[in-house]
Parts: sequence; structure tokens; C-alpha cells
Amino acid sequence: MPPEAVQYQCRNQVAFLLIDYPPVNVLAAPVRVGLARALETALADASVRAIVIGCVGKTFSAGADIGEFDGPVAEPTLQAVFASLEASTKPIVAAVHGLALGGGVELALACHYRVATADAKLGLPEITLGLIPGAGGTQRLPRVIGATAALDMIVSGAPVDAAAASKLGLIDAIVEADLMQGAQRFCEQLIGQGGQPRPTGARAVDATGFDEAGIAALLSKHSRALKGRTTQQLVIEALTVATQSNFETGLAAERRIADRSIATLESQALRHLFFAERQVSKVPGVIPELSKAIGRQSTVERDGAGWANKAPIARVAVIGAGTMGSGIATACADAGIAVTLIDSHAEGLERGLSLIASNYESSVARGRLTHEEAARRRERIVDSLDLGAAAEADVVIEAVFEDLALKQRLLSTVASLTPASTLLASNTSTLSIAELARPCRDPQRVVGLHFFSPAHVMKLLEIVRAPTTDPAAVGRALTLAKQLKKIGVVAGDAFGFIGNKMMLDGYWREAELLMLEGATPEQVDSAMESFGFAMGPARVSDLGGTDVGTKTRIELFKRETRADPYFVIADALTAMNRLGQKTLAGFYRYRPGERQALPDETVATLIETLAAERGIARRSIDSSESVERCLLQLINVGAQVLDSGVAMRAADIDVVWVHGYGFPKHLGGPMFHADSLGLKHVLERFEHYGARMKNRNDYWRPAALLETLARQGRSFADWDRERSAS
Ligand code: NAI
Repeated sequence: MPPEAVQYQCRNQVAFLLIDYPPVNVLAAPVRVGLARALETALADASVRAIVIGCVGKTFSAGADIGEFDGPVAEPTLQAVFASLEASTKPIVAAVHGLALGGGVELALACHYRVATADAKLGLPEITLGLIPGAGGTQRLPRVIGATAALDMIVSGAPVDAAAASKLGLIDAIVEADLMQGAQRFCEQLIGQGGQPRPTGARAVDATGFDEAGIAALLSKHSRALKGRTTQQLVIEALTVATQSNFETGLAAERRIADRSIATLESQALRHLFFAERQVSKVPGVIPELSKAIGRQSTVERDGAGWANKAPIARVAVIGAGTMGSGIATACADAGIAVTLIDSHAEGLERGLSLIASNYESSVARGRLTHEEAARRRERIVDSLDLGAAAEADVVIEAVFEDLALKQRLLSTVASLTPASTLLASNTSTLSIAELARPCRDPQRVVGLHFFSPAHVMKLLEIVRAPTTDPAAVGRALTLAKQLKKIGVVAGDAFGFIGNKMMLDGYWREAELLMLEGATPEQVDSAMESFGFAMGPARVSDLGGTDVGTKTRIELFKRETRADPYFVIADALTAMNRLGQKTLAGFYRYRPGERQALPDETVATLIETLAAERGIARRSIDSSESVERCLLQLINVGAQVLDSGVAMRAADIDVVWVHGYGFPKHLGGPMFHADSLGLKHVLERFEHYGARMKNRNDYWRPAALLETLARQGRSFADWDRERSAS
């Protein structure tokens, strides 16, 4: 018999219904059944005069079971359970601690009263999955806190703390000491005062400020997060019903609108990413559960190097205090890891330390960190000019100049200084990890850790596995990613790994080709920005430095011994010392101290010359062609990356592009987007351009995997599913 998902206890006229469904008390079928039964028991017991609903463990409830969204939901539904709670003839008090999210908040709203601990947080994050609260949230919340505040809370998706919840009227009392004792006292007072059930559905909606102007003001407050999104319109629709109709009509409307939200592509895309982000760390042969599933012994058990994959990393040494090294050091210090930052040059070290100091100062200035917390984090970083200082680290990450011989020398020296259990990593963006590891006495403990700039901000971390890399080293790198609260995606050791390969060989190259054919940099940028990218390719290039792209490309092409006659604009800009924002000129020009990209005649002339030299006839190109061609190339190279095994799953590619390259989240990533367009359509459009661009058709040759899947009527998602099942 599985343990009961809801415990039942009775103390002094109060029944306690305690949800005990680890790890986060989702409101899955066993919980719903348990709640319904426990409620019946409490109602049938004449000695019970009030009921408390609480949760066991670190947190209240994380809400509905997202896994249930795509199929039929087992009885009783949340809506039915909430209706019977609300109809209870005895007052019910929700006792909230930790986090109450989504269905967790809706559960609390279905109770008659709510108390919470001072550290509790309550939020309705459904919108982040393209959904509306669908278990009464859009009808009960406005009855408790008013329609305008409800819109703000639902559209922001962010939790409010107990103090704010109390001010809003979302909770009736903050309980200072033991929550259950506090809830008991609250009930005793209620009983003493003859307190009756207070069904939320019977309360009136305060619609003050819920008019056209008020709604517009709130949407504009959240406009950044809502860019390209549509779910907020469904939220407004549901709240409008709440302000105009009775509760039952509202609930019925909410159910219909919630069903519509589940069916939107936006919601499917966001849920796809939600699962993809959680799945990336599952690597066959590395994660024990998966190893078992495929019949191999788990890495943790056979761990030859003495690694315990899950043991926390306490000290990291970062070699090279440049842009990347200082960002990586900050990321580690932010995660509570002690850092030794090493540079061979005193000036290099000074520059890195002042970068770190200014990062923390700006976090304090922006109110993100207190002065004390920033100081605590800064103190975790010690510096050294001596490589020997890396000897004590659990992980050593080198981020020195992009120079093969230099990196090889450093890694092999560090290998000789450290025990076999120290993970050695390179932050290279172009070099082969196998090559870098070759001179080390134990190359199997070398991985690539490809951080993105700024390394303390960007969530993505590509973990590069060479053929020589021990799976346990990959496991260790995944542990580090988790500690850093980053999303670690495992990639193969090939040209540009996952992200840069697709960017350089697909997206950016096509953007430059479009410019040679007649689109201006601002036209390509605004096309991609209206598609949903935060910044178009030319603007991104100017921000990161055109020289960085050029150097990366030169190294990559060297590795593959090839040249690219149509990928020439950024290189020409670099040769003219137009390195982007830092030199006030790149694809655009900039006024000193300003970031606004201004079109530049010099660049227009340069592009015309480059086009003429290549015999390219120029024409006007509309934004839909720009978007389509850039995306088709991105998808096609993505298919190559998948087919070659450099990415394990199409979903991994989506995670890389959303978190490292600004692909619009609500479209799910390039491979999900391809599936949603239909691979047959993608292939047809690819072949359409391929026929038009015969002279450049090296780039316009469809990837074998894209062709196969499209012709067989399968999708990238099918491919992922089939691979994970085999
Ligand atoms: P950087 O030029 O800002 O910093 C390099 C640092 O390494 C300098 O402080 C230098 O003094 C130090 N250094 C050089 N030789 C050394 C040695 N023998 N021992 C210790 N320190 C030494 O370079 P950046 O931009 O930080 O790049 C570092 C690495 O990160 C490169 O491999 C680059 O390809 C990679 N990378 C860069 C990204 C970027 O956006 N800049 C993104 C991802 C990876």
C-alpha cells in the first residue's frame, strides 16, 4: 500500500488535512482523492468545528501535475475537489508555508480563510507556460483581491511574499511561530466568534481600475515579458467574465478559456521547453537512473576516478581573469563556491578583479543585492599569480587566450598538479577538447565548459564531451551546472559545438548573404526582432565585437579546412577596425556613451562593393524572406547537428537557442518551431530557395535527417521520442 497522500489529524475541534506528496505536493490524483475523503471524514465528525488544510515538507503545493495536461484527467478533478471544499458547512482555513504556486494558490483560494508563515510566497505562474489558472483562479482571485490586482498577479506570473499577500487581502493573517499551532489558534478564535464558512465564490468582485486604461497600463508594465505573447488576452477575457457574471458562469467560462489556452501553440512551445530544460541533464551513461534504464551500470557506482557525481563542488579555480574568467568567477561566487582566480599577468588580474567589483557594485545599485551580500560573495574570490594555487580546487576552468598551444600547456601542467578527481575544463569556443586534452596525463577528466557572455548572467552552459572524456567527468560538469543554477547541455566535440555551429554555419551566414543580396543590416535586424529575437544578428555582432565573431570563424574554418566566400561582411568590418560598440562602429555607428545603433553609409557602400565583387545582383528583400531564410538555415544546420550526434536531442538544441541565443521562448526553439511549421513544409521551402540559389547551393542542400523525417511524415519530436525509447 502506498502511503496516504493526505494525512488526517484531529486536535481540539479542528481537523487537519495535511497533503504529504513529496517532493513538492503537486495536486495529483492521489492527493485529490485523499482530500475528498479527508473532507468527508471531517464533515462527518460532529466534534470537528473547523478544518485546516496544510502541507507536509518544505513547501505548500507547487500546483497541478503538468504531466496530466495533455490527456484525460483522473477523477475527481481539481475543480470538483475545490467546489466541495468551498461548499463545506464547516469553515476551512488554508495554512500556507514555503511556496504556493498555481493550483496550490487556487487550493488556498477555495478555502474560506488563509493564514501563512512570514516566509511564504504565493504565485500563479501559469502564464509562463502559456496557460491561464484553470482551477478557479481567474474567478476566485478577483473576488479576494479585486480584478485589477488579480490581473497584475496572473499576468506577472511572479509570486508575492506574505507581507504583500496580506496587504492585498490574499491572506487573512501572518502566523509568526509554528504554522499548525498558529492555524489552530486562528480556528479557535473563529469558532469562539461563531465564524462561519466564507465561500469565495459568494463574494463580490471589486472591479475598480479594471477598465481599458487600467488594463493597458498593466500590460505595458509587463510588456517585456509579454513580447510576442497572447495568453494575457485569455487572462483578461476570463477576468472580464468574473467582473460581469455570476460565479458559476465564470467557472464555466474559465474552463472553456483554459482549454483554449492549453491548445495554443504558445502553450505547447512553453511546456515543451519546460520539460526540455529538465531533461537536458539526463545523459545516457552519466545519470544513474538513465544508465539503469539502458541496462548499464551507473557511473556513480563504477566511478573510477573517485568522483561522487553528486558531491557538491566546494572550490573552483579559474585561470585567466579576462572577460570570461571574471564572469565565471562571479557565477561561482554567486553560487556559494570558493574561487581562486589566477592570471599570469598582474594587469590581467587587476582588470578581472575590477570587473568583478563593478559587477557587484551595479547589482547593489540596482537593488538586486544588499551591500552585505555583495561583500560576502566578493570575499569568496581570492586571487593569485601562481598556477600552483589551482592545486586544491575540485574543478579547474581555464579561460585564457584562444591559443591551442597555450591552453594545452596549461591543462597538462594543471593535470600534473591535481589529483585525478579534479575536473579540468576549458572555456574554448573553437578548439577541439580532444586536442586540448591530448597532452594531459589523464585526458579523460577534461571537458569543455562553454560559458556564454556575460557568464554570471547567461543561463546556458554547453558541456563539451570529447570521445576521450569519461562519462563521470560529464556527470561532474552537470553537477557544477546545477550548482551554478545554469542549464547544462551536453554537446559533442565538433565545430562550434551546438550553438555556434548553428549560428555561424546557418543563421549569421544567411543574414550576411541577405545583406549581400540587398537587405540592409537594419532590415535584417528588424525582421528577426519582429520574429521575436531580442536583438537581430548585426546588433548582436556589434555588441559582442565583430572581431570576436571573426576570430571564432577563422579558427573554426581552420579546423574544418574550408573557407566561405559569402560570409565576408563582418570580417571586412574587423579588418577596418570597426569592431562594434567598443569602437563606436561596426555594422552600425554609435555616438559616444550611447548604445543606439545608427545606420552607416560606409557599411552600405562596403556591402555593395562586396556584393559586386561576387557578382551578386542586388534587389529589395522583404522581411518575410529574411526571416524565412535565416530560420530555414538555422533548422537545417540544427538537423545536421542532431544527425551527427553533436546534440543528443532536438529538444537540447531548443534549450541552447532559447537560453544562449535569444530565440523567442514562446516559439519553443528552432526545432520545435520547425515541427510546428511541419517538416514537409520546411523541406519544400528549403528546396524552393535551393533551386533559386543553385550557385550557392552548398548552403542550400537539405540535411539528410531533415529530408528523411519530412518524407516519412515524422517530426524532430518523434525522432527524440524514438531515440529515448530505444
Ligand atoms: P580575454 O582576452 O578577455 O582574457 C584572457 C585572460 O587570460 C587575460 O586576462 C590574460 O592575462 C589571461 N592569460 C593569458 N595567458 C595566461 C596564462 N598563461 N595563465 C593565466 N592567465 C593567462 O579573453 P576572453 O574573452 O575572456 O576569452 C577567454 C576564453 O573564453 C577564450 O578561450 C575564448 O574563446 C572563450 N570564450 C569567449 C567568449 C566571449 O564572448 N568573449 C564566449 C565564450 C568563450
